Amino acid sequence: MLGNKVLHYDSLSSTNDYLINLCKDYHMTDSLIVLADKQTSGKGRLNHKWYSNNGLFFSFLLDVDHFSQSFYINILTSLSVVKVLKRFKIDACVKYPNDIIVANKKIAGILIESIVANKKKYLIVGLGLNVNNSIFPNDICDAVSMNMITGLNYNKKNLLDVFALEFNKIIKKSNQSKQKIFNLQHYIKILYGYEHYVLCDYKEKRYLVKVLSVSNKGILTIKFKSGDIKTVSYMDIKFLLS
Ligand code: BTN
Repeated sequence: MLGNKVLHYDSLSSTNDYLINLCKDYHMTDSLIVLADKQTSGKGRLNHKWYSNNGLFFSFLLDVDHFSQSFYINILTSLSVVKVLKRFKIDACVKYPNDIIVANKKIAGILIESIVANKKKYLIVGLGLNVNNSIFPNDICDAVSMNMITGLNYNKKNLLDVFALEFNKIIKKSNQSKQKIFNLQHYIKILYGYEHYVLCDYKEKRYLVKVLSVSNKGILTIKFKSGDIKTVSYMDIKFLLS
């Protein structure tokens, strides 16, 4: 069960990198969480930096048969984060592919990396959740924290426990095919742009689109305001917060 073992550090360069290195040297189990109070080189997607103070920063791994399971794991992780926030009375949605949004700002991000170690395929799942920040540096204008939404301070270990609980519940059920469809139906309902038009950049132009469906590999079917319908992946489209 995820969370049975937690390696907790005051500071790491990146919990993802730390776990990747552990995998190279040891046989790792998917119950382990690597947690750091801060990261000196927190990584985001597309080589972005992840601001890593006053938040919850952790990584875990899943050994998989195919790296193509990566997006489905992203879906399960996103659903778990949204459920955790809901438990703390914060309504969140997901800006495809991996941003968790509250009040039109980013509260959390997920970074999934694929590695091969000792002939096994692993997905390294990293989550950064802004928790007790009351302010962000000036150059980070699109971020928000739980504290900024509710005015409360949160116990990060407790948040991690709630995340592990939700993730374990969802992963346990997800092997049943009916549950997979159920998860997809739930995921689409929390997607930014589901059933209402939002701005996006697609092939270097700006459009209004809405999301019609999503596959477990992360392929979206979108409808343009003009009526055109297309299938796109995260490489083709960037949703914009208004
Ligand atoms: C993103 O939104 O671009 C993804 C951000 C992921 C940040 C987390 S914090 C814990 C883990 N370790 C890292 O270096 N990155 C992820």
